[in-house]
This record gives sequence, C-alpha cells and structure tokens, in this order.
Amino acid sequence: MIRHIIAAVATLLALWAIVFMMELDKKAERFKQIEQIIEKSKEVPLQVQQTIEPIQVEQKSAAQEAKEAEDEVARKLKALKDRAGSAMAFKVSPLYKQKCSSCHGVNGEGAVGPRLIGKSETEVYDALKSFKSGERKNYVMYGLLSKMSDEDIEALSEEIGTFKEKLDAANR
Ligand code: HEC
Repeated sequence: MIRHIIAAVATLLALWAIVFMMELDKKAERFKQIEQIIEKSKEVPLQVQQTIEPIQVEQKSAAQEAKEAEDEVARKLKALKDRAGSAMAFKVSPLYKQKCSSCHGVNGEGAVGPRLIGKSETEVYDALKSFKSGERKNYVMYGLLSKMSDEDIEALSEEIGTFKEKLDAANR
C-alpha cells in the first residue's frame, strides 16, 4: 500500500517537474524573442524613414478626395434647392410640404423621388397603400407611411391628384 502511495507521489512530482521545465522553456523563448525585437529595432530607423513619405502622400490625396466629394454634395444640394425654390407655382398643404416635398419637390415636380404631377388620386393612393403594406418594396416610403394614418394617406392622394390641374392653372 505504502509503495503505491510513494509511486503515485513520485509520478506527480515527475509530472510537475516536466510542466515546470516547459514553463522555463517558454520564458527563455520569450526572452529570446524580446532580444531579437530589440536587436531588430536597432536596424529599422532607416527603413521607417523611407516608408513614412508614401503614407503621407496617400493621406493627402484621401483628404483631397473627401474635400472634392464634399464640394460635389454641396453643389448638388444647392442645385436641388434652386430647383425647389423656383418651382413653387401653387400652394400645398402643410402635410405635403412637411412630409413629402423634400423628396418629391415643393409642387411634386420630383427630385430624389419621382415626379408626382400628373398622377391621378387613385394612382397615388394605390402606390402609397402598396408601399405601406410592403408589397411594393421601398425602405424610405415604407418607413414614412408605416406611421401615417389612412386619413392622411387619403388626403395626400386627393391633393396630389390635383397637382396637374393646379400647375396648369398657375401657368395660364
Ligand atoms: C426621403 C425621400 C422621400 C420622401 C420624404 C417621400 N418619398 Fe415618395 N418616393 C421616394 C422614392 C425614392 C420613391 C421611388 C420608390 C420606388 O419607385 O420604389 C418614391 C415613390 C413615391 C410614389 C410612387 C411614384 C411612382 O412613380 O410610382 C408616390 C405616389 C410617393 N412616393 C408619394 C409620396 C408622398 C405622398 C410622400 C409624403 C407622405 C412621399 N412620397 C415622401 C422618396 C420619398
């Protein structure tokens, strides 16, 4: 019995010794790596200087590109605003103005969204209904209409159905 216990303890000690040696090896390996890194860091300064320049050049052109994109957006927005401002031929409801005009134009002449002038009440109503039900897939229109009451949708359809007539009257 005692012999068995001694054998077991000896085995455990041997295992522990192996693990301990492995840990030591790992530490030694780390030291070697650190030494190598320090060694390498003494060689790099020249290389680093060489690589810094191209990076700076790239950053400059990226900043330039961003600036150009910004100008482009500003230009497009201005063009949109000019168009919207000059097209105001007849008055629209506050509801249309607030919810729809930013994309479809102050008089439904179209901008980001398609032109609505000339569409009949039924056409508009059917379109809005199918956007709202998700049958016709459009993220923007769906998001907008999902919170809108049927009364408002009906009122807007009726109003947009009169746009053509109103525009013609204003141009006469
Ligand atoms: C954020 C922009 C945006 C707003 C705000 C917006 N729309 Fe639209 N609308 C669109 C876009 C884009 C389409 C085209 C979607 C498609 O064809 O899938 C569209 C399509 C439509 C159509 C279908 C037109 C067609 O030719 O089939 C109708 C009708 C319409 N919108 C009415 C409205 C009404 C009414 C409002 C206000 C409640 C409104 N929209 C608000 C962007 C907008």
